[in-house]
Amino acid sequence: MGQDLEKVLIPEDELQAKIKELAARIDQDYAGKDLLLVGVLKGAVMVMADLAKYLHLGVQMDWMAVSSYGAGTKSSGVVRVLKDLDTDIMGRHVLIVEDIIDSGLTLHWLLENLKSRDPASLEICAALRKPDAVKVPIDVKYVGFDIPNEFVIGYGLDYAERYRNLPFIGTLAPHVYK
Ligand code: IMP
Ligand code: MG
Repeated sequence: MGQDLEKVLIPEDELQAKIKELAARIDQDYAGKDLLLVGVLKGAVMVMADLAKYLHLGVQMDWMAVSSYGAGTKSSGVVRVLKDLDTDIMGRHVLIVEDIIDSGLTLHWLLENLKSRDPASLEICAALRKPDAVKVPIDVKYVGFDIPNEFVIGYGLDYAERYRNLPFIGTLAPHVYK
């Protein structure tokens, strides 16, 4: 994969330290509460697994799969549910776990969808956020890193389903997608 990679943006140790920090905040904020983590497939698998392991709280985990990107690098704005939750979230404390917020379109849609199911609370934890995300009024309680407006891969994030298993965040060499 070496020649496809342009540079390492966030090394593994920095990622892990940050997720651990977020877990500590979540432990405090949800102390004494019954928390359901909702991971957004497939990109959130890495952050979900690491976050869950760093938490001292006992939590439940469920997954939703939505699609907003095709094989390209631009959000289509069209969100399709590929897999819904198995859990009834009415009256539950729900924390959405996401890999990245780019345009915010996916999360905006997901928030509205989950809100309509009447959870006790609904918050967002995202490993990464891009500058465009500020254009959409989404209140993200837990953010790992604000990154430049570049297409990134690794730590769950893919380009055409590849590179998800890299343990760091990197940028893709333009020759790969141009
Ligand atoms: P949004 O709807 O534009 O916020 O995009 C949400 C989804 O697009 C994320 O959950 C990712 O799956 C994907 N995405 C956005 N930016 C990137 C990127 O830089 N690399 C890989 N996937 C991305
Ligand atoms: Mg995603």
